[in-house]
Amino acid sequence: MELYIDTANLDEIKEAHDLGILDGVTTNPSLIAKEGVPYTDRLAEICQIVTGPVSMEVLAVEADAMIAEGKICMEVAPNIVVKLPSTIDGIKACKALADEGIKTNMTLCFQAMQAMLVAKAGAYLVSPFIGRLDDISQDGTELISQIRTIYDNYSFETKILAASIRHPKHMLECALIGADVATVPLQVIKQLAKHPLTDSGIERFLADYAGAFGK
Ligand code: G3P
Repeated sequence: MELYIDTANLDEIKEAHDLGILDGVTTNPSLIAKEGVPYTDRLAEICQIVTGPVSMEVLAVEADAMIAEGKICMEVAPNIVVKLPSTIDGIKACKALADEGIKTNMTLCFQAMQAMLVAKAGAYLVSPFIGRLDDISQDGTELISQIRTIYDNYSFETKILAASIRHPKHMLECALIGADVATVPLQVIKQLAKHPLTDSGIERFLADYAGAFGK
């Protein structure tokens, strides 16, 4: 399972990158807005740290404008993946960009048929938002499961990128279902490596050793 970090904050990206197991980065306009820096400048900085796929979202909502903006995004760095909404216009733009060999990440996917259409359009990634579905009392991980079944049924090569992950249980469920990628905030990445019995176990080992042999 590939692990991306979901942030536009450079310190968080550096910290995750230093773990040695980071495969990519996702950003969106809300995350960039929190940083208060120009979008292209920040994406260029991120691409100097991470050589894997870095998703940069277009602001356009109409197909031709999305295609034009997607091509501008690709000028930032060769590892940019153009992030487009999973709409009718997004599907058209996805197909046009895919035909030119440009990778796309189809975002804001909330139902399995959106995922099927973007796969047919040649998307590199599809981003189902599981936390936001849970927020409205739907089952976010059930969507991941449905998309996995459809993609396997028809051998679609689009990768399922589980997004809007809020806690380790989301991550565990996505891994069991077989999501190809998960994009996760730094805080959740850290939670994945935590267990109170690990901490107390270390303390006990060290105390037992010190009791027998001194420090
Ligand atoms: O980057 C897209 C997605 O991961 C957003 O997550 O927490 O804003 O629903 P969230």
